[in-house]
This record gives sequence, structure tokens and C-alpha cells, in this order.
Amino acid sequence: MSGDAVYEVTDLLRTFGRGGHVRALDGVSLQVERGQRLGIVGESGSGKSTLIRLMAALDRPSSGSVRFEGREIAGLHERDLGFLRASVQLVFQDPRSSLNPRMTVGSIVTEPLRSRRVRRSLDDVDRGQRLREVLDAVDLPPDAAGRYPHEFSGGQRQRIAIARALAPDPEVLIADEPVSALDVSVRAQVLNLLADLVEARGLTLIFVSHDLAVVRHLCDSVVVMRAGRIEEQGSTEQVFNHPRADYTTSLLAAIPRIRVADVGDGS
Ligand SMILES: Nc1ncnc2c1ncn2[C@@H]1O[C@H](COP(=O)(O)OP(=O)(O)OP(=O)(O)O)[C@@H](O)[C@H]1O
Ligand SMILES: [Mg+2]
Repeated sequence: MSGDAVYEVTDLLRTFGRGGHVRALDGVSLQVERGQRLGIVGESGSGKSTLIRLMAALDRPSSGSVRFEGREIAGLHERDLGFLRASVQLVFQDPRSSLNPRMTVGSIVTEPLRSRRVRRSLDDVDRGQRLREVLDAVDLPPDAAGRYPHEFSGGQRQRIAIARALAPDPEVLIADEPVSALDVSVRAQVLNLLADLVEARGLTLIFVSHDLAVVRHLCDSVVVMRAGRIEEQGSTEQVFNHPRADYTTSLLAAIPRIRVADVGDGS
């Protein structure tokens, strides 16, 4: 393993159902380097979300290993995961279900700062400053802090989720279909915002999407999943221009051309 691997995932198996007959992941191995922007693609049910849940220690593998910065996280108790919780943040598909409707935006965004790991280094003043800084970073006004999620549009709610993810100054951002629940008209804006933030903050990005055009735009490398296995992985250039697997070729053939232009025009 190279010195700069953030994640090293080895031979992951995750089964569900009686007798473990559903193999959501089977023999999955991959590495993520610091600063890498990895796209994970594949048809519905191929195991993308299962994989990132294991990488975020939101679930445990049936067998196999997930190392984060050299430390095994598979099977660790929550109380021993502080080092991971501070460094790895997630953005999910639907901000309506991922944001607590009874909390103000300010409490939502600063919630990750209350974890023991981060709290030690941040007093109330710092927290207020961090809140203003991340709201500004996602182009929300400072007075958003006192309002509630339902007062915002879908795109704005996803900006709130992104602000929350950025608040603890993570190294790794994991996003699972972060724009697919949004109105088509705001998807490109939110994606471009995400791309800018990843660039400006030097984040390592793990980005799950059905949308290969978006992955091509945002990621430098790609894992193609099918039925719980990695069908193909490589640089974005290699996978998109010289796919090795027929399955990848068929996924690529399904990209609607016009979407590439939508995402690329920076609007
Ligand atoms: N908690 C669970 N209980 C039972 N089966 C599960 C569970 N989570 C995932 N699965 C199964 O594991 C397989 C992989 O699911 P997963 O959600 O990882 O796919 P995905 O690639 O994220 O799909 P999508 O693109 O639709 O989000 C599917 O067959 C799914 O039904
Ligand atoms: Mg999924």
C-alpha cells in the first residue's frame, strides 16, 4: 500500500437475507488515495450504497477489511470510531430525510462539531465562525442559520447538507447520488458547487452516481460495479475511452449526450 492511501478495502463480503443468500458485496477490493476523486457507478442494486456504508462504518461487513488511514474500521464499536467520524463526512440523496425538520439550520450544520473529537478544538466562538464560513461556502445567507429546513428549496436543502458535511473540516467527502432527488434545473448548480468545494479544499471524494456523464465531469477514477462485484476500475480516461468490460460499454451507451453539455457549461 502506498503511503498516501486513505482507504484500503480488501475482499469485502456483505450478505443479507436468510442464510446470507443476497450477496450485496462479494470480493470487493479497492484503494483510495489522498485527493483522489473516485466515482462509483453501476446499475441499481449493484452494491454501491452498501460499499460506501461500510467505508463510512455505518454498517459492518460479513467478512473482509476496511482500513482508513491504516487503521481497521470493520467491526469497530462506535465509541472507537471518533477518528473516522471527524475525517469522513457524507451527503445523501434526499436532503428531506437527511435533515432533521425540527432543528434550525444552524444546529444542523454545527451538529458534527459536537462530536468529542472536534469539540476539544472548537469553542462556541469558533463554532459560530465555522457556521458562517460554511454557509457562505455553499452560497447560503448568514440568516439561514435561524431558519428551518422546510423554508428552503430542494437545492438549498442539499446545500445545507453540504455545509454540515464541510463543518468539521473533513478530509473525505462521500456523496451517494447527491443530486438525483433534486429538480433537474438545479442539479448542475449543486454539482458545480460540489466540484468547486472539493477542489478548493483538496478533499478526497467518493461519489456514487447513476449518471456517468456527471462522474466523468467530476471524478478522476471510476469503479464500475455489477451484482456486488467490481466489474472494472481505472482512471476516468481509461474507463470512459477504453472500457475493458462489455458491461461498462453498455452503461456508457446509455448516457444521454445532452446531459454532458448541461453539466459542462458551469450554469
Ligand atoms: N438492509 C438490507 N437488507 C436486505 N438487502 C439489502 C439491504 N441493503 C441492501 N440490500 C441488497 O443489497 C443489494 C445491493 O444494494 P445497494 O443498495 O447497495 O445497491 P445500489 O447499487 O446502491 O443501488 P441503487 O442504485 O438503487 O441505490 C441489493 O440487492 C439490495 O436489495
Ligand atoms: Mg444506492
